[in-house]
Amino acid sequence: MASLNRSYYCSFSILKINLLHITLFMFVVVHQLQESYAQQNQLAYPPNCDLFQGSWVIDPLHQPLYNSNSCPFIQREFNCQKNGRLDQLYLKYRWQPRACNLTRFNGRAFLNQFRGKSIMFVGDSLSRNQWESLVCMLHSAVPSARFNLTIIGDDVTFVSLPDYDVKVMLNRNVFLVDVVKESKGRILKLDSIEGGKLWTGIDMLIFNTWHWWNRRGQGQPWDYIQVGNQIYKDMNRVTAFEIALGTWANWVNTNINPAKTMVFYQGISPSHYNGTEWHEPGAKSCVGQKQPLSGSLYPGGLPYGLFELKKILRTIKKPVKLLDITNLSLLRKDGHPSIYGLNGRNGMDCSHWCLAGVPDTWNEILYNSIPY
Ligand SMILES: *[C@@H]1O[C@H](CO)[C@@H](O)[C@H](O)[C@H]1NC(C)=O
Ligand SMILES: *[C@@H]1O[C@H](CO)[C@@H](O)[C@H](O)[C@H]1NC(C)=O
Ligand SMILES: *[C@@H]1O[C@H](CO)[C@@H](O)[C@H](O)[C@H]1NC(C)=O
Ligand SMILES: *[C@@H]1O[C@H](CO)[C@@H](O)[C@H](O)[C@H]1NC(C)=O
Repeated sequence: MASLNRSYYCSFSILKINLLHITLFMFVVVHQLQESYAQQNQLAYPPNCDLFQGSWVIDPLHQPLYNSNSCPFIQREFNCQKNGRLDQLYLKYRWQPRACNLTRFNGRAFLNQFRGKSIMFVGDSLSRNQWESLVCMLHSAVPSARFNLTIIGDDVTFVSLPDYDVKVMLNRNVFLVDVVKESKGRILKLDSIEGGKLWTGIDMLIFNTWHWWNRRGQGQPWDYIQVGNQIYKDMNRVTAFEIALGTWANWVNTNINPAKTMVFYQGISPSHYNGTEWHEPGAKSCVGQKQPLSGSLYPGGLPYGLFELKKILRTIKKPVKLLDITNLSLLRKDGHPSIYGLNGRNGMDCSHWCLAGVPDTWNEILYNSIPY
């Protein structure tokens, strides 16, 4: 696409030297060609194809896009093979949308597309899961390029590729809205979004929040919730999530220039702690799961935040694409670290995903959702 455009520009400038009116004519033709080309290639897939409806197919030729042992950016908690997971079938499944085919991720094309630009994932550790996957996919595509990892405080980590002038960033921000320490304690401010200062000027933003809203006790990083001038000890968590998403939606409406910035919502990544949901009532977690569910339907319900999320996204005025990865991930009861995560046999992680693994598919769908 890029080189084709360039050759049109070449013929354009040669003609310019000769005949002005032919040049003008060519300009119109080139312009039209470019426009129709852009329309054709707006999406790498047929525009009426739902990439999120489909099934997982076993494909012996399917290889992960990187080897988790040679990617320097995978943290131990996602590196299931390194932590002793022996079964490998879970690496052989490919997501097959019902009505079309995904274009395989091409790291060089991606980097050329984002030359001079920055990408930022914003959210909790599921954002980190997807960020590490993307950085590894890029690393294996251009292993000899320079990758410069920078960590700023607790909240910002980024990998820059000076050879492509690309930055792939991660902003840890589990609620999207602010938690502020005050004399009273830590206040979760549902209508304050000062954290958004870090998001301005980025070319592609991928947001996510959900998993922290239901935390209680030790795992809950706030003491009070504030909405306007009202302070609450607690409130319905789905309501709180909804108010915060509304604040985020306002931020997007106020701050995003769609000509510069593409905005995605990562969707809600599901967990697998209850085998009843997949008709295996004896299973109290995802441990020992070696295969996804076949077909397209997950017997258990959808995570309940998804409904609120979709409601808010429908009201937002600026273009935000939802990576609606909940259903396809629900089928992957085999994709979690279980006892091959951070705390090994003492832990049980059925929330995050092994890398290589399911987040690679999220990134492949992201890749298929970007106009090239
Ligand atoms: C998807 O790929 C398969 C195998 O390459 C091909 O047979 C099929 O026609 C493709 N489907 C679409 C919708 O392009
Ligand atoms: C890596 O990033 C740091 C911080 O931005 C910078 O000081 C350093 O020069 C960079 N190194 C390379 C090799 O680009
Ligand atoms: C597991 O899921 C089933 C069906 O959704 C539900 O009835 C049950 O209460 C759940 N068990 C636990 C421990 O959450
Ligand atoms: C996800 O699955 C549920 C039921 O399993 C279905 O109602 C819903 O339409 C699906 N959503 C998508 C985007 O496929």
